[in-house]
Amino acid sequence: MFELSTSDPTTLEPRVDEAGATSPRHLSPTLGRYFERTWSHGEGHRLYDAEGRACLDFACGIATTVLGHRHPEVTAAIVEQAQRLVHVCNGLGYVEPVSRLAAMITARMPAGLDSVFFANSGTEAIEGALKLSRRVTGRPGIVAFHGAFHGRTFGSLSITTSNDNYQAGHGPFLPDVHLVPFPLAYRDFNGDEAAATEASLAALERLFSETIAPAKVAAIVIEPVLGEGGYVPAPPDFLPRLREVCDEHGILLVLDEVQSGYGRTGRMWAFEHAGIVPDVVCLAKAMANGLPLGALVARRELHDRWGKGAHGSTFGGNPVACAAGVAVLEAIERDGLVNNAADMGRQLRDGLLRLAERDERIGDVRGPGLMIGVEFVTDRGTREPDGELGDKVIARCADEGLLLLTCGPAHNIVRWIAPLDVTSAEIEEALAVFGRVLDEMKPAS
Ligand SMILES: Cc1ncc(COP(=O)(O)O)c(C=O)c1O
Repeated sequence: MFELSTSDPTTLEPRVDEAGATSPRHLSPTLGRYFERTWSHGEGHRLYDAEGRACLDFACGIATTVLGHRHPEVTAAIVEQAQRLVHVCNGLGYVEPVSRLAAMITARMPAGLDSVFFANSGTEAIEGALKLSRRVTGRPGIVAFHGAFHGRTFGSLSITTSNDNYQAGHGPFLPDVHLVPFPLAYRDFNGDEAAATEASLAALERLFSETIAPAKVAAIVIEPVLGEGGYVPAPPDFLPRLREVCDEHGILLVLDEVQSGYGRTGRMWAFEHAGIVPDVVCLAKAMANGLPLGALVARRELHDRWGKGAHGSTFGGNPVACAAGVAVLEAIERDGLVNNAADMGRQLRDGLLRLAERDERIGDVRGPGLMIGVEFVTDRGTREPDGELGDKVIARCADEGLLLLTCGPAHNIVRWIAPLDVTSAEIEEALAVFGRVLDEMKPAS
């Protein structure tokens, strides 16, 4: 029987480059990288590079390793399932951890959202949602929001506009896709959330009257908190108003919770803050604490109408990933991690607001739970994004042992994606590093 190593991984030897054998020169540069470092191993909330330097990991593999690294129960679940059965395509029948995980996810969803289609990633979950929406409604139109990120495959890329570079040169995209502005209260409306909400809804109404009749729209797809686009929560009223529009016109409301789901915002699902029930929910990232897994959750009746054989996947719902997924949900529940995310998020936000009081370069601190964005501007009046500062700050923080990422088209928003089980002491440690780095980088007055 395989024994889990109990050795202290901080004493692990970094894997060295033998005659260039581990050089990254054969890896495609197409995948943009935040850091030119080789990562060696992780333990808890620390990530170690090949030179043995440790970072407090507040990037979490871009919101995936939400329980940190080498989590004992997740690792044990992975090992146990790998020893029993690594893979059988879900198309061949049922496997216990897959069915169990589906039951656990739906038990945590609002009543009615009772059936799961498993995929391998966020983009695949979105592809499934687009296909389901068109087939079930018999309508072609898809409405999404400027600045959103939904993935890199053709369907999801057709509704991804968080950065010009993602679509550039890759078209043509899906026909009948229509974009309306996401309500960006800070950037476009002086912080006025009600005005931002009304403007987006007015744009949607205009779209319906001028470009596509609502009776031809299959789905409205939205991130409840804009992720890659800048960590901007939808204003409180926005999702309920969208729900009303969808109900009025028979449009499916698809919530992309790939980044915001699983407790990240201090509620299990970000849409809970708005008190609405979506028709379709897309999940991925945090589900298996780093193993590839995605899911589309919807009412049974919608899956039935989508139809047998209408969609499929060889690897989707891999048993090892699902076994990890079961352990993740058990840990979140047992350790009260959704509440922890809310509490630690408040502490982090308060600390960041204190830093903003003494630093004019911080234009905005926003976001629920542990999905917090700090927006850098060259001038608080004009709100001109300062992307150069964002890039420099995260590079310097990494040198100082704190891993943070940027987001937003100009990279001027530093996003804080701490693990869900982060401690108060770790929050203080991170704030101290961030504050010190900002002070060091203050322009001479
Ligand atoms: C909100 C959202 N949707 C979809 C995706 C795509 O997920 P994946 O990279 O797993 O395909 C992402 C990834 O960052 C995301 O943040």
